[in-house]
Amino acid sequence: EQIQSKRPLKLLLAAPRGFCAGVDRAIKIVELALEQHGAPVYVRHEIVHNKFVVDSLKAKGAVFVDELDQIPDGGHVVFSAHGVPKSVPANAEERGLAYLDATCPLVSKVHRQAERQVEAGRHIIFIGHAGHPEVIGTFGQVPAGSMSLVETVDDVATLTIDDAGNLSFLTQTTLSVDDTAEIVEALQRRFPTIVGPKGEDICYATSNRQNAVKAIASECDLVIVIGAPNSSNSVRLVEVAVRAGAKAHLVQRADDISMNWFDGVDTLGLTAGASAPELLVREIIDSLSRHFDLDEQQVTTAEESIIFKLPRELSDSGV
Ligand code: F3S
Repeated sequence: EQIQSKRPLKLLLAAPRGFCAGVDRAIKIVELALEQHGAPVYVRHEIVHNKFVVDSLKAKGAVFVDELDQIPDGGHVVFSAHGVPKSVPANAEERGLAYLDATCPLVSKVHRQAERQVEAGRHIIFIGHAGHPEVIGTFGQVPAGSMSLVETVDDVATLTIDDAGNLSFLTQTTLSVDDTAEIVEALQRRFPTIVGPKGEDICYATSNRQNAVKAIASECDLVIVIGAPNSSNSVRLVEVAVRAGAKAHLVQRADDISMNWFDGVDTLGLTAGASAPELLVREIIDSLSRHFDLDEQQVTTAEESIIFKLPRELSDSGV
């Protein structure tokens, strides 16, 4: 039997990658709710944008729904990490549904800022992606009409604003750091008195993952990003890699990888979006090691130690 020697492939693993503290917390909330109340526990929307995570929780008894009216009276419901409009907990209370809010604390922080800006009488310009659940949730914190969405620098030019001297801006947490800086600049040029957030609304996990992929992409012929097509921060990682000069593909599982991608590829970069578990990174490395003689190196651009507290209802129970 002929033993084929495997082609060498250098593998640069970006770090940090994968789960952020908000995703970790959201998954724990569903798991603990299942332990405390038993199945089913209803989850409004994908708890985080990852099919593997959603399927694993389904197997444990979580039932995913689009809206609260799909939940029977007396049900327990968890709201997803992306946050929900105020009408959702209000509706749950009216219905007498017990709910746990898995909204990432960094998203909740933006929610509170939105309320404060409106209280201060300012109109908000929100930088984000239309239709993303986080954007829907943040718009739902303030009265209709008090916030306008911009997605691009071009949108800034075409905005119609009544009181241009009384504006503030806020952003989605999972945007491209570089694109957002350009949009903020365009806003400040057009509306010199616009008030912005003190720190950044783009979260630490998003910016760390973008920096990490940027650090490897210029040395890579191909970058593979593990994440879902509806995961904003994962899609941004692909864009960052492409901008740094690499070819890049978004995959959900090892099966999505095509061997055709590897023609002429000597160095591969690998990273994962904030909602993708490390298990999937290992799955992909194992699968690649069947085809290549891998020289695996991790490139670490930041250390992360942040952990978010669980909601009091769960942490008080001693679990
Ligand atoms: Fe939160 Fe950022 Fe993760 S907003 S859910 S820490 S990607």
